[in-house]
Amino acid sequence: MASFFGFLLILLSVSTWVFAPQSCHGRVFSFKMHHRFSEPVKRWTQMIGKGIGPDDWPEKGSIDYYAALADRDRILRGRGLEDVDRPVTFSDGNSTYRISSLGFLHYTTVSLGTPRKKFLVALDTGSDLFWVPCDCNKCTPTLDTSYGSDFELNIYNPRGSSTSKKVTCNNNLCAHRNRCLGTFSSCPYMVSYVSADTSTSGVLVEDVLHLITDDSRPQDVDAIITFGCGQVQTGSFLDVAAPNGLFGLGMEKVSVPSILSKEGLTADSFSMCFGSDGIGRISFGDKGSSDQEETPFNIDQLHPMYNISITQMRVGTSIIDTNLSALFDSGTSFTYLVDPAYTRLTESAQDRRRPPDPRIPFEYCYNMRSFIS
Ligand SMILES: *[C@@H]1O[C@H](CO)[C@@H](O)[C@H](O)[C@H]1NC(C)=O
Ligand SMILES: *[C@@H]1O[C@H](CO)[C@@H](O)[C@H](O)[C@H]1NC(C)=O
Ligand SMILES: *[C@@H]1O[C@H](CO)[C@@H](O)[C@H](O)[C@H]1NC(C)=O
Repeated sequence: MASFFGFLLILLSVSTWVFAPQSCHGRVFSFKMHHRFSEPVKRWTQMIGKGIGPDDWPEKGSIDYYAALADRDRILRGRGLEDVDRPVTFSDGNSTYRISSLGFLHYTTVSLGTPRKKFLVALDTGSDLFWVPCDCNKCTPTLDTSYGSDFELNIYNPRGSSTSKKVTCNNNLCAHRNRCLGTFSSCPYMVSYVSADTSTSGVLVEDVLHLITDDSRPQDVDAIITFGCGQVQTGSFLDVAAPNGLFGLGMEKVSVPSILSKEGLTADSFSMCFGSDGIGRISFGDKGSSDQEETPFNIDQLHPMYNISITQMRVGTSIIDTNLSALFDSGTSFTYLVDPAYTRLTESAQDRRRPPDPRIPFEYCYNMRSFIS
């Protein structure tokens, strides 16, 4: 790995990336990002730890429960295409967090099902499927883990949600029909990731993803989405990375942004903003601003990905012209470069190299202070 891949920099700036694979004609979802040890995260972990979230569902069978259900149905049906431009965010707010103890990925809380359950999911532009631990054969233990006191980890139970539906093999989002037992049996899924031996498998299910409009008069918007009931996880998903699920933001039709756009709830676009303090947000349906710089995606029709071309890199004041394609993958903590770009970059930063540190699995370390100046 060290010979041709290198740790570059985790480039966290307050710039916003807008991902707009197709035309823009919808509303915006968003969430904000917070650092693990920031005040919002402290409040938030206390909140979910004690289960006293602001949107706690009323007790099943109570009058409040049916009133809330009826209200939700009204909203689901009442939303027409005329307000497709209204921005929308997750019902738990538009916050997202960089969590270093889980491997420096960006996370947010999503609410699923009826009654609603919260999941702390990693945001991944490098994959498509949204999945959560569910009907577990092999999941991250929810108790007694090193971060058990920091996060409440939930497990989705299709039988525990009155709005849950199975996705059968004749559904057009069912990709592995060759593994189906029959046309009307549950659709199996299996996804492998670039990290060594890291995968998730299970069956597809359908349920409500709770959202709200992201404006001064927040209104509930509940979307019926398809996601993975992750029964068996392997590799990094069992400890760090995605202990409570992964939110695929890719371009394929099974990703939540694609589903929301297909349902006419948002434009087929979203934006993410990462602050240097780990606090940020994401907005589905964001059309960007007119003064924003753009770069085209290199689209492969068979497997569309956020593949961009990099023509120049800057280290301090030295400019390196280059010509490489790269995947924009929020589910990978580090930037990986292949040669010759890697060697040229490390050479241009030679004077900032620090003595090697055996605890760090990279060829070189750099003095960051001199980059910032
Ligand atoms: C979303 O984020 C913006 C900017 O941080 C904030 O002003 C807004 O109130 C947030 N919206 C919701 C619904 O949380
Ligand atoms: C990204 O796009 C370039 C240019 O079309 C292509 O050569 C490269 O293989 C693509 N990368 C991946 C990982 O698909
Ligand atoms: C980058 O590669 C393309 C195609 O291989 C070529 O046309 C272009 O001139 C190259 N640009 C640079 C700056 O090397």
